[in-house]
Amino acid sequence: MIYLGVNIDHVATVREARKTFEPDPVWAAALCLLGGADSITVHLREDRRHIQDRDLRILRETVPVKLNLEMANTRPIIDMALEVLPDQATLVPEKREEITTEGGLDVAAHLPSLRETAGELKEHGITVSFFIDPVETQIEASARCGVDAIELHTGSYANATGVEAAEELDKLIRGAASAHGLGLEVNAGHGINYYNVRDIVRIPHLHELNIGHSIISRSIFNGLESAVRRMKDLIDLYSHNQA
Ligand code: PXP
Repeated sequence: MIYLGVNIDHVATVREARKTFEPDPVWAAALCLLGGADSITVHLREDRRHIQDRDLRILRETVPVKLNLEMANTRPIIDMALEVLPDQATLVPEKREEITTEGGLDVAAHLPSLRETAGELKEHGITVSFFIDPVETQIEASARCGVDAIELHTGSYANATGVEAAEELDKLIRGAASAHGLGLEVNAGHGINYYNVRDIVRIPHLHELNIGHSIISRSIFNGLESAVRRMKDLIDLYSHNQA
């Protein structure tokens, strides 16, 4: 069985567009759980562009399944993780100018610092995962940092077509086998949608998929019709009451 982690950052992005109270990612997490999500993922970015500290704290109290915090390897964010104690921390690279996480973590280049952070998080009982490209040097470097898991970056596969897509899928398949051989739990995420998931599940040893954008996008269309109908009903109701 492959578990599903739902990334709810995108709900917070809509809320932050207006800096108002809705849609609340805390409500979204509850609905994801009702839908069968096995875990909830949020990325507390340094610029707080979507998820806020308050969201993370309330989610820690209200999510009864695995809460996975995507985070940069920076002191303020590590301190927040140590305060909130998510079940899992997934270390990701973070650039302020990017729209979303663009590439995997360069573990090989930052090994000492990442190993130290992984150790610190693990000492506090947090499972540690690194978000990496399916590249052998990064997989081996992750294992050397003592992490529990890796999350293979599926973005290059998701953005490719034809022969290139087949090659990218092959890299993911080989990367998963190699990570599994090194005793690492294998997760995957980024750009997984209702169309490419059929091929994604061919990656061996998958423990969990982390999916956000496609699910939140689909939920807009699943809910838009009834949301409009409800507003029409309310307008009718209140205008009749006034007549
Ligand atoms: N995994 C990681 C590490 C991510 O940074 C993201 C994007 O926030 C996801 C999974 C989910 O990607 P998507 O929103 O494209 O499904």
